[in-house]
Amino acid sequence: MLNDERIWDALRRPKPSPAWKGEPQLGSIYGEEEVEAAVAAIRDSMDVSKGFGFSAPPIPDFEEAFADYCGAKYAVAVNSAGPGLDMVMRFLKLQPGDEVIVPAVNFPAAALAVCGAGGQVVWGDIDPRTFELDPVDVEARMTPRTRAIFPVHMNGLSAPIDELIAVGERYPHPEHGPVPVIGDAARAAGGGYKGQKIGGRGLATVFSFHTMKNMTTLGEGGMVTTDDPELEAYCRSVRMYGGGVGAWGTSNVMTKVQAAVGLVQLGKLDSFISARRRLAQARDEMLEGIPEITTPYEPHDCEHSYYLYTCLVRESWAGEKRNQLLKAMTDEFGVGCVIANAPVYMSRKDLREHTAGQRLPVSEDIAQKLLCVSIHPGMSDADNEYACASLIECIRRLR
Ligand SMILES: Cc1ncc(COP(=O)(O)O)c(C=O)c1O
Repeated sequence: MLNDERIWDALRRPKPSPAWKGEPQLGSIYGEEEVEAAVAAIRDSMDVSKGFGFSAPPIPDFEEAFADYCGAKYAVAVNSAGPGLDMVMRFLKLQPGDEVIVPAVNFPAAALAVCGAGGQVVWGDIDPRTFELDPVDVEARMTPRTRAIFPVHMNGLSAPIDELIAVGERYPHPEHGPVPVIGDAARAAGGGYKGQKIGGRGLATVFSFHTMKNMTTLGEGGMVTTDDPELEAYCRSVRMYGGGVGAWGTSNVMTKVQAAVGLVQLGKLDSFISARRRLAQARDEMLEGIPEITTPYEPHDCEHSYYLYTCLVRESWAGEKRNQLLKAMTDEFGVGCVIANAPVYMSRKDLREHTAGQRLPVSEDIAQKLLCVSIHPGMSDADNEYACASLIECIRRLR
């Protein structure tokens, strides 16, 4: 734990300006290499015989490099994770009443992809230590209509993919066989699982390269990884109107300039993750022994990418007091915090109506206790110490 002297030293430093946002607007770090790669791709496109060709290098180069990085056979670049999730769901050809199990402690994209593909969302509850879809809870929700298990790699930590795959195999669909697992890794590029990178297991994994994520392709972008050649061909085709597979599609391509920058960001991704991990480990030590706070848990077989540093407040601080803590951190100390995420059915009326009658006790309880304290690979050790000192000071004031 930080001692009083270090707390006072840290808090004597000026408040960060601008304040650290709960989820910083740029999640990675950009340098001249990205600028040069973008300019080179634009210069190459000035040749009228090439232009910004939608399947020209460096798009396939980026796909190949990303597939290799994840240990997947294929990667298909798209313009954002949302359409990637939609494509994978549409590939399943869901029929009315077909069920897909999705954690509600999540961004809404996965559940919306199920609805958009004509399926029925079945909410799954989470493990309160990891915030990941709980395989035991999933098992209890499997029915002959379950078509997919759709975990999110929450806040940068891997979901327990192998356990979820085993559940899907134990309850095969009567027509389609083992129930596939599809991972939403929008927040988890670069995270690890069982000695490998996230993205090499299950039917497919979908990544986001949105500006706030662990790496970004000029603010928007995404990738679908898979070992399944049929799914790869389907995604490749429907991201460009679907002609190749005779299926509905629209334009969801990534541009050549984005891919060029993506290659540079991918080359730096491990250094971003190491920086996030170093900051998180220092935080764990600085916050150790503060009874009001539980710091993030990292299962032994995972390497957390710490897209968010997800804490829990103790039972008696749930709700109102947690909200006061969050406000004081932001307003008084310039260290933003976010609640990521309360069950999406609480904030989205359409999803609440779609899943009427479904409630998740663990997820709803956790929603009252979650607190993610701003973290970023470019944060200095001094800023990291300031963030922890601010948290300890806010807690003392609220005791
Ligand atoms: C868990 C999760 N899934 C999906 C998305 C959607 O990503 P994109 O903005 O690339 O479509 C996000 C974006 O914040 C997310 O956090």
